[in-house]
Amino acid sequence: MLQAKNIKKIYWSGSKELCVLKGIDLLIEKGEFISVVGPSGAGKSTLLHILGGLDDPSSGEVFLDDSCFSDLKENEKARVRNSRFGFVFQFYHLLREFSALENVMLPGLISNKIKKSDISRKATEALEFLGLKNRVHHRPFELSGGEQQRVAIARALINDPEILFCDEPTGNLDYASGRQIQEWLLALNKQKKMTIILVTHSQELAKGSNRILNIFDGKFAS
Ligand SMILES: Nc1ncnc2c1ncn2[C@@H]1O[C@H](COP(=O)(O)OP(=O)(O)OP(=O)(O)O)[C@@H](O)[C@H]1O
Ligand SMILES: [Mg+2]
Repeated sequence: MLQAKNIKKIYWSGSKELCVLKGIDLLIEKGEFISVVGPSGAGKSTLLHILGGLDDPSSGEVFLDDSCFSDLKENEKARVRNSRFGFVFQFYHLLREFSALENVMLPGLISNKIKKSDISRKATEALEFLGLKNRVHHRPFELSGGEQQRVAIARALINDPEILFCDEPTGNLDYASGRQIQEWLLALNKQKKMTIILVTHSQELAKGSNRILNIFDGKFAS
């Protein structure tokens, strides 16, 4: 379903080159739950953003269903991301002018996947399921880090994505809430056959996924 071929990512600071991804090859089948585990700075977020078409590799390609995703124009990529991908970011990236409910509804309003009249109900249900019944009208700055994370998870799921990209989705949650999210991800994968790509520093969180890939210093450990 998703394939990375020899992905490299180089950042420049002044005239100094920083090679953050050093040739990543990866093949993800439909319905798989993959975890990429590695220490801070290993390149996990960078890789996830490239796989999800949010950032471009310096070289190499990402293929989605056998066609080259990296070559698409930005508006075409955005359409694919909105309708087929869900993202849970390490730092939430909620829109601060909007309430929790509005943040969750937004991807639904942009896509044509859900009837307009159903979006608000679906978003409210998702927030309630994540324990935020009394926070739906709060804006991000009126929410704790863990609550913002759960809003971000609800937002990622509103369009029933085929692939869910998660960057440290439990990083700001207490142990019990983290376990709950972990079980929920496993259930989404098993019951809805959702393809999940999770990056984390936590071997514990990665347990239960179909495959664990260890990344160190921009490369998978063999
Ligand atoms: N825009 C940028 N410009 C320069 N260097 C960057 C940039 N973004 C990331 N880096 C560097 O790339 C390396 C990998 O960053 P990345 O965010 O992918 O790490 P990570 O594995 O997600 O770490 P963490 O577990 O702390 O989130 C880091 O050393 C970081 O400093
Ligand atoms: Mg990161």
